[in-house]
Amino acid sequence: MSKEKLNILFAAAEVVPFAKTGGLADVAGALPKALKELGHEIIVVMPRYYTIELQHLEKLPAPLGVPMGVMGELWAAVYTATLPQSDVKIYFIDYEHYFGRSNLYEDENGGYHDNDNRFIFFSKAALQLCKMLHFTPDIIHANDWHTAAMPILSKTRFVHDFAYTASVLTIHNLQHQGSFYKGLMDVMEIGWEHFNPHEFKSFDSVNLLKGGITTADAVTTVSKKYAQEIQTQEFGFGLQEHIKAHAHKLFGILNGVDYKEWNPSLDKYLIKNYDFDAMDEKKACKKDLQCHFALPQREDVALIGFVGRLVEQKGIGLLSSAINGLLDKDIQVVMLGTGEKWAEDFFREVAYHRENFVLHIGYSNELAHKIEAGCDMFLMPSLFEPCGLNQIYSLRYGTLPIVRAAGGLDDTIVNFDTQHEHGNGFKFYDATSEALYYTVLWAIDIYYRDKAAFERMQQKAMHEHFSWKDAAKEYEKVYRFAIEQRRKI
Ligand code: ADP
Ligand code: GLC
Repeated sequence: MSKEKLNILFAAAEVVPFAKTGGLADVAGALPKALKELGHEIIVVMPRYYTIELQHLEKLPAPLGVPMGVMGELWAAVYTATLPQSDVKIYFIDYEHYFGRSNLYEDENGGYHDNDNRFIFFSKAALQLCKMLHFTPDIIHANDWHTAAMPILSKTRFVHDFAYTASVLTIHNLQHQGSFYKGLMDVMEIGWEHFNPHEFKSFDSVNLLKGGITTADAVTTVSKKYAQEIQTQEFGFGLQEHIKAHAHKLFGILNGVDYKEWNPSLDKYLIKNYDFDAMDEKKACKKDLQCHFALPQREDVALIGFVGRLVEQKGIGLLSSAINGLLDKDIQVVMLGTGEKWAEDFFREVAYHRENFVLHIGYSNELAHKIEAGCDMFLMPSLFEPCGLNQIYSLRYGTLPIVRAAGGLDDTIVNFDTQHEHGNGFKFYDATSEALYYTVLWAIDIYYRDKAAFERMQQKAMHEHFSWKDAAKEYEKVYRFAIEQRRKI
């Protein structure tokens, strides 16, 4: 029998509200709180990027030694705080040489050349921190490639302190695997015997995510559908066979929503708060959004939003082919995002020529909230989507999602069924600009011609609940599975 209350070390490269580039941060800021509410003891660890102010952090008295192979022991400072509206402790690893930069992972020249060392350093520091705090985890919960070395580190180089610790690796995005020059094996100090095709070797490089999948006691994805998809060639990014071989320990758990943060009745960024029983105020949010973007303030026009990283994953290729045809219709489109240069340039050009398309290139949490609230529909035509959070937020805001049926988008959005009036959004299957185009036309047709059906769907969407508590209970089961696996070794 395993213990009721588990000690959990949760490590992530980004955590809301301290640093965020995408959904990983949302998850890392919310799931630990839900686990704590179930009664577990959990600590969160992340790097102290120098964009994080020290003002509200407390410094631990002693520095932390981190062994880094031939570089010897490097000394980090550690800061601490609590996750907002909780007593979950979060620790920040501060090492200027690695994290004293203006961005998390990259600059205008691409990924930082030492991302391999940066995140092996962080992974080792997270383990050393447990020792320093006299915190013996039952579970190490690692996330994505950045921390995917933690399972093997805890079973080799650091085994002395983690002999009874099991590990779980969550894949938030299989596209990013952390593939580096094989010399990293010496920095990891796990022994070259682990540089083999079943563990960390991929061609002649070290692949951290691949090795993490082998060496974690359990692996999860952020939706059930994605757990299936990554076992296929279309979505496997070359690891499909490897993942199939480990499918016995693979589980899909859908992300939840932090409804304190994403909730139209509480949202501090909105000009007016609203809810399913007070939808008139949503109209005020629409007007406010149109005003912000200097769009004609028409209540009757179909307003469609897009928020996200402007990268291929998000289906911006499909959108770029369909957008001009769509803008010939009576609609308004607002877009918020940053990403690939071609996409920024392309959509800037569209915004220049079309008066019903507006764009904010950049990152703005406030605007993301205003778009969720002010739009009638929210577009997510992703080619693949491990979970996707924006479509789930959109449901709560009564902003009906138009999505491609991939990964978590397929798991969360039920297609509108004209006959039976099922559904909470509009869904297309083929990854083509035609499918996207006709699905948007269909959605705006319902919006204009059958307002009553559209509004009933909004009501249904707003009543749905994607709870972190339910997800945390699923993780709890996976943790116990992992502990069983670890015992067998
Ligand atoms: P991913 O993690 O693949 O980027 P998700 O849908 O899981 O996709 O999460 C994206 C998160 O990042 C959402 O909370 C979304 O609101 C936010 N986001 C993405 N781009 C921006 C942006 N330009 N400005 C503000 N928030 C953004
Ligand atoms: C990734 C995925 C996204 C998911 C997020 C949080 O960035 O691209 O689909 O919602 O992680 O799990």
